[in-house]
Amino acid sequence: MPRTKNKLRKKKDIERGMDKRKILCIVLIIVAILIAILDSPNSRQWKLAIQWRPTLCQNSTSCQQPILEKFTIHGLWNFTPCPTHGRPLPRREIERLQSTLKLNIVWPDFTNISDNNIRFWQHEWSKHGHCTNMTPMAYFQKAINVYDLYPVLTYLEVQGIRPGDQLRIEEFYNAVYRERGFRPKVVCNNENQITEFRICFDTVGFIGHDAVNCGGSPYQTCKSDENATLPKA
Ligand SMILES: *[C@@H]1O[C@H](CO)[C@@H](O)[C@H](O)[C@H]1NC(C)=O
Ligand SMILES: *[C@@H]1O[C@H](CO)[C@@H](O)[C@H](O)[C@H]1NC(C)=O
Ligand SMILES: *[C@@H]1O[C@H](CO)[C@@H](O)[C@H](O)[C@H]1NC(C)=O
Repeated sequence: MPRTKNKLRKKKDIERGMDKRKILCIVLIIVAILIAILDSPNSRQWKLAIQWRPTLCQNSTSCQQPILEKFTIHGLWNFTPCPTHGRPLPRREIERLQSTLKLNIVWPDFTNISDNNIRFWQHEWSKHGHCTNMTPMAYFQKAINVYDLYPVLTYLEVQGIRPGDQLRIEEFYNAVYRERGFRPKVVCNNENQITEFRICFDTVGFIGHDAVNCGGSPYQTCKSDENATLPKA
């Protein structure tokens, strides 16, 4: 009897050892996959967020008049946000950027409360820009370059979609895909009005300004079972 027990114990020990090795193997495989994903030149790293002013200004009394029927920059964001907020850019530095770059035209805040633009840019820098290894000038310039290269409103218009049209959200989304061959992300408010488009870049694409598919759920904040719209001003 004791011999049988011993045998049984040995067998169990062997099995336990194998289980441990199996688990270790699985863990190693997962780690390898994660490293491959993080290391891959195809991993998505950046997104440009552009906002549709008529949606945001619809019920606001503080918006700049007349309300422009266009997308303007919200921000250029890393998929991994800055771990901490940076020091606000000194006002003098922001004013220098403002006078050198066309921030007032392509990156204005949508409200017209005094100093809002300056605060908006300071916020974007301290939340998303300061940890990018770019100088403030390079960071803001980069966002503007990317914005200029991807005129989403033009893509919609070329595909026959105009502000005010009532369409399924995938029509808006597919219009960009058909024009440029990458999948953006679309964001809506509660009323299924488009507030933003996002355009994504991987590490390599970011240098050459080649957008990639954003991945994930492409329009999860929008309802796909009813019409969506890009409101007229
Ligand atoms: C704007 O105001 C109108 C009228 O009060 C309301 O019906 C609508 O829901 C509001 N839109 C948004 C996006 O809040
Ligand atoms: C925006 O603000 C400026 C100064 O604060 C003011 O002169 C201008 O009339 C405002 N524009 C509108 C119409 O909202
Ligand atoms: C959606 O919009 C189309 C016109 O683009 C219209 O024919 C259709 O009735 C609308 N559907 C709903 C549910 O409002």
